[in-house]
Amino acid sequence: MIPAQKTQIPGPRSSELCTRLRRWESRNVTFLSADFPIFWERAEGVNVWDVDGNRYLDLTAGFGVAALGYSVPGIALAGRTQLERLAIGMGDVHPSAEKARLLEALSRVTFEAWGRGEAKSILGCSGSDAVEAAMKTACLATGRPQLIAFRGSYHGLAYGAMEATELGDFRKPFLEQMAGRVRFLPFPNCWRCPWGRGERPSSECDPGCRSALAAELKAALATRAAGAILVEPMLGRGGMVPPPDWFLPLLREVADEEGALLILDEIFTGFFRTGPRFACERWKVVPDLLCVGKPLGGGFPISACIGPREVMDVWPESDGEALHTSTFLGSPLGCRMACAFLEEIEERCPGLAVEEKGGRLLAGLRDLTFPGSPLRHARGSGLFAGVEVTDEGGRPNPALAGRWSTALLQAGVILLAGGPDRHVLSFTPPLVVTGEELDWSIAALRSVLERLIAQPGSLPLSMSKL
Ligand SMILES: Cc1ncc(COP(=O)(O)O)c(C=O)c1O
Repeated sequence: MIPAQKTQIPGPRSSELCTRLRRWESRNVTFLSADFPIFWERAEGVNVWDVDGNRYLDLTAGFGVAALGYSVPGIALAGRTQLERLAIGMGDVHPSAEKARLLEALSRVTFEAWGRGEAKSILGCSGSDAVEAAMKTACLATGRPQLIAFRGSYHGLAYGAMEATELGDFRKPFLEQMAGRVRFLPFPNCWRCPWGRGERPSSECDPGCRSALAAELKAALATRAAGAILVEPMLGRGGMVPPPDWFLPLLREVADEEGALLILDEIFTGFFRTGPRFACERWKVVPDLLCVGKPLGGGFPISACIGPREVMDVWPESDGEALHTSTFLGSPLGCRMACAFLEEIEERCPGLAVEEKGGRLLAGLRDLTFPGSPLRHARGSGLFAGVEVTDEGGRPNPALAGRWSTALLQAGVILLAGGPDRHVLSFTPPLVVTGEELDWSIAALRSVLERLIAQPGSLPLSMSKL
């Protein structure tokens, strides 16, 4: 539904809530300014309403969580029913039937679907949890404690996952507390080639980049210190970057040659976000471990590290005290909602035309990258797309990107800027978004662009939230 009318909502307004957050929440959590944030009151489909009665079209799907949109009746019913019957379990001690159902379903939609036989999982509550379970599994499987990860990556901010997160300043204040387990290699971002071979779409990648990365990977693994390669198949928070077609197959090949595990973090790209069920399917690459999260719980925080039996069985049988667990592991409520999500998405996804709508979105973005426009390098796959905001010299312009997303918010569109320089407008709408809603969003973007060209100082002065 396209934003239009304003409704009256009882309760506190944004300005009052901002004051309360400023007083009661630790600094450095919610970014607060005169026109940011909005306070969400309710959400349905692709729309969010704020406490001031404004309706928005959410092009973020709430950080990629609301794959099927908000307030999905089947998932809400499953959650309500489970909440009334059994919300709490003792994950690794006395679990519920819902956990068994979810584990089976995860196996079916991943390694079984890829012809690799049955898979086992370790459940968690966040993306960080899934990544850390994969890091521990890789260490047990290979006896090699270190990892290879990529520049611009985001794998979460718990200490283990944060070691593998290269993006941003997250690690800076805490470097001395980290174990130095991760070596970072360049991610092949063809629009900003890390080997200095120019700016071009990934379909036109220079073959020299493949050889350069292959050599760096082999050298890094040759020391036998690293036992795994951890990678997002497409950089998400690192700037919405689909890699060239050689990238994932190369990682698979080198991991096999060097006896390392390939861990794919599909927390953002999983469950049809980029077109296929998982992004790795585009290149027919099967990982050794797969991390999923974000949309999995249909809004409930739940994640999983999934791997084929032969990999996961490096974990010893439990002697009564699990080596890796947490209080909420396998929550019956989360497992039930995740099963409902998987059922819905499997049933509905073919009809959602993700690739087709993604093509329409990308074509709209490309139209806005004409000579003289500050928008450049539109790219994407399915409903996972980005466009860079640059200065006249083509350099990242994070200040303008922040003002752009604030201007869009005022026009009724929720959109964030990401990337290492916070200058990439990132599009991950609910997969149920319609073509008409996408066209309307592009028109909103265009009207900001026209305003900017006509009156360069006319955009609001707020910053974006990374
Ligand atoms: C690819 C990827 N991995 C891991 C994470 C971390 O997930 P969480 O914030 O649930 O810990 C994110 C979050 O944005 C992500 O995009």
